[in-house]
Amino acid sequence: MYRQNFGLMLAEAGDLARAEREFGEAVALDPSSADAHNCLGKARQRLGRLDEAVAAYREALRLAPTDPGAANNLGTCLAERGDLRGAIECYRRAVASAPRQAMPHNNLGNALQASGDPAAAVESYRRAIEIDPQLAMAHHNLALVLRDLGDGYGALEASRRAARLEPGYRPAWQLFGELFAMGRFTHWQPDFGADCLRLLAQPDVDIAAAAEAAFSLLLVDPQFGPAYRELQAGNAAAGEWFQGAPLAALTRPLFLLLIGNALIADPGVEAFLVRLRHIALEGGRQGVPPPLPLACALAQQCFLNEYLWPETADEARMVAALEARARPGASPLELALLAAYRPLARIEGIPKPEGGEAFDALWRRQVEEPRIEAALRPAIPALTAVEDATSRMVQRQYEENPYPRWQRAPSNVPFPLPLMLRSIFPHLDPARLAAPDAPEILIAGCGTGRHAAITASLQPHARVLAVDISRASLAYAMRRCRELGLSNLRFAQADILRLGEIEERFDLVESSGVLHHLREPLAGWRVLLGLLKPGGVMKLGLYSELARRAIVAAREVLAASGTGTGPEGIRAARQSLFSLPAEHAARPVVKHRDFYSASGVRDLVLHVQEHRFTIDGLSEAIAALGVEFLGFEFADRRPLHAYRKRFPDDPAALDFAHWRIFEQEHPDTFFGMYQFWIRKPSG
Ligand SMILES: C[S@@+](CC[C@H](N)C(=O)[O-])C[C@H]1O[C@@H](n2cnc3c(N)ncnc32)[C@H](O)[C@@H]1O
Repeated sequence: MYRQNFGLMLAEAGDLARAEREFGEAVALDPSSADAHNCLGKARQRLGRLDEAVAAYREALRLAPTDPGAANNLGTCLAERGDLRGAIECYRRAVASAPRQAMPHNNLGNALQASGDPAAAVESYRRAIEIDPQLAMAHHNLALVLRDLGDGYGALEASRRAARLEPGYRPAWQLFGELFAMGRFTHWQPDFGADCLRLLAQPDVDIAAAAEAAFSLLLVDPQFGPAYRELQAGNAAAGEWFQGAPLAALTRPLFLLLIGNALIADPGVEAFLVRLRHIALEGGRQGVPPPLPLACALAQQCFLNEYLWPETADEARMVAALEARARPGASPLELALLAAYRPLARIEGIPKPEGGEAFDALWRRQVEEPRIEAALRPAIPALTAVEDATSRMVQRQYEENPYPRWQRAPSNVPFPLPLMLRSIFPHLDPARLAAPDAPEILIAGCGTGRHAAITASLQPHARVLAVDISRASLAYAMRRCRELGLSNLRFAQADILRLGEIEERFDLVESSGVLHHLREPLAGWRVLLGLLKPGGVMKLGLYSELARRAIVAAREVLAASGTGTGPEGIRAARQSLFSLPAEHAARPVVKHRDFYSASGVRDLVLHVQEHRFTIDGLSEAIAALGVEFLGFEFADRRPLHAYRKRFPDDPAALDFAHWRIFEQEHPDTFFGMYQFWIRKPSG
C-alpha cells in the first residue's frame, strides 16, 4: 500500500518512470491486488506503452471483475488504440457496475461518437451531466456532437457551460470561440460580453476566427456602439477623440483586447482603424494623444496585418519625424505611435523603457520575438539543398512573407492517431485504419509551424519532423513551438523534391497547402509517398478549382494590372480589388481573412506558383499513384452529413463521381481545400 501511494504521488508530480517502478513493486509484493495492477496500467498508458497497459488492466479486471475503475481505464486504453468495439464493451461494463459514476458515461459517449453514432453519444453525455452537472468535460463533449449534428445554438450553450465550469480547461474555450465565431449579435447581451472578454484573454486559445463576431458584439455594446458610430460618421473633431464618451468607448477592454490580439477582417472596421491611427498620430503631435494602452493595441493590430494599410504623405512625414526621435529616452507613447506604422525591430540601440503591461507586450512582440527568430535562423539544420527553380521562387516569397503569422495555436486534447483515424472514418473497415501508438510523423511544408504544433500536441507519443524551404518560416515555427513547450517536434530545412535523400521513413505524412505550389505537384506527391512506410497514411490539403473561383478571378485581375509583390504592390492589389463592383466575380476575396494581412494577400492572390485540383484530377492522381483513398476530412462535418443524405448508397463517402456532383451543387464545400487521407498499400 505504501509503495502504491508513493507511486501515486510520483505520478501526480509527473515522474511516471519512477511511479511505474513503484507500482511494479506493489504488484510484486501483492499480485492479488487489483488496485495495484490498475495503477500500473495507468502509468504505462501515460508513458505510451499501451500493450503493457492493456495487460495490466486485464489482470486487474480478472482479479476484480466488477471494478468500474479498471473497466473504464481499459476502455480508454482500447479507445486510444482505435479498438472502439472493445472500448464500448468496457465502458458498458463500468456503467453497469457503477451506474451513478459520471465519467464512464462520458467516455462511453466519446467511443460512441467516434464509432459514428452521435445520437447515442448525446444520450450518454446527457446521462453523465445528469449525474454530475459540474463535469465540464461532458458539457464540452456534448457541444462537439451537437455541432456535428447541426445544432449550433445547443453546442454554443454547452461549450459555454463547460468553459464557465472549468475556466482553466482550454479546449472548452477553444470550442466556445469557434462556435461563437459563427454568430453575429443584434442586441447587447452582457453575459456574452463577459464570456467574450474571458475568451479573448486566454493566452493559449486561437481567437482569430472569433474576431468579427466579437466586433459585432462591440457594435451593440451600449457604451461602445453609439460612440463608434459617431466617430465613424466623422462627427467628432480630431481633438475630441480621446476624451469623454469616445475615449470611454475606445478604451473598453473588449475593444483593446480585440484589436491587440486578432485581425478584424472587415473593410468598414479597417477604414475606421486607419482613421483612428491617423488621429492618434496627429494627436500625439498636437498634445492630445491617445492613452498608451490604446496606442499599443493599435500598434499590435498593425503588426498583425504587417503594415498593410495605406498611409498618406502627411502621415509619412509625421512618422519620419517620430522615427528620427526614436532614441534612448524616447517615451513609450512615442514608440507605440511609431510602432503603428513601422515595426520597432527596425530601430536599434534603444533599451526598453518602462511602460506597463500593454507596452511590455508590444515590445515583446515587435522587438524580442523577431530577435529570437533571427538568432534561431542560422542554427536550423538543412536536410537537402533547394535548387529547383520553382522551389527557389516559392522560397523567396515565403522568406519575404512567412505565412501564416499565427499568435495562438488552437488548444486541443490529445487524439491518438489510431483513434483519430477511426473517428474520422467510422464507416471504413477498422483493419484498413491500423496505425501505431507512437507514430513517426513528417510534416512536409510546415510553414510557420501552426500545423506542426497542432499535430505534435494531438500526438504526444509521436516523433514529429517538420520541414520547409523557408528559413524565416522555420524560425518563426521554432520560436512558437518552443514557447508552447512542444518537445516531440524538430524542424529542418528541406525541399520536398529532394526529401527522398533522407533515410527516415514515416507512419504518417501530412502536407497541407503545399504540393499545389510545386511546378509538378505529382512529382512532390510521389516523393512523399516514397517516404511512407508500407501501410502508412498521408493527409493532404490541396486547392479546389471550384472553391477558389473568386480567387482565380482576382488573380486574373491582378495579372492584367501587373501589380508587384512588395509592400506597395500588395497595397495596390488590395486597392484594385476593393474598388471592383460588388457583383464582380473577384469581389468576394475582400471577405477572406487572408485579405487583411500582407503575407495573407500574397498567399491568397499574388502567389508566384499555384495549381488547383478538381475532383476528377484528384481521382486520376490517386489512381495513377496506386494508393487507397480513405476519404475527405471536414473540421465541421455538416457537408459529410449532407453528402450522405444526397447519396445514401455511399455511407463511406468514397465515390468520386458522387463527390463531383456534390461539389457542383455546393461549390464552396472545399473552400478550406480538399483535405483528404490516403493509404500506401502494405505489400
Ligand atoms: C501556404 S504555406 C502552408 C504552411 C503550413 N502547411 C500550414 O498549413 O500552415 C506553404 C508552405 O509550403 C512551403 N513549400 C512550398 N514548396 C515547398 C517545397 N518544395 N518543399 C518544402 N516546402 C515547400 C512554403 O515554403 C510554405 O511555407
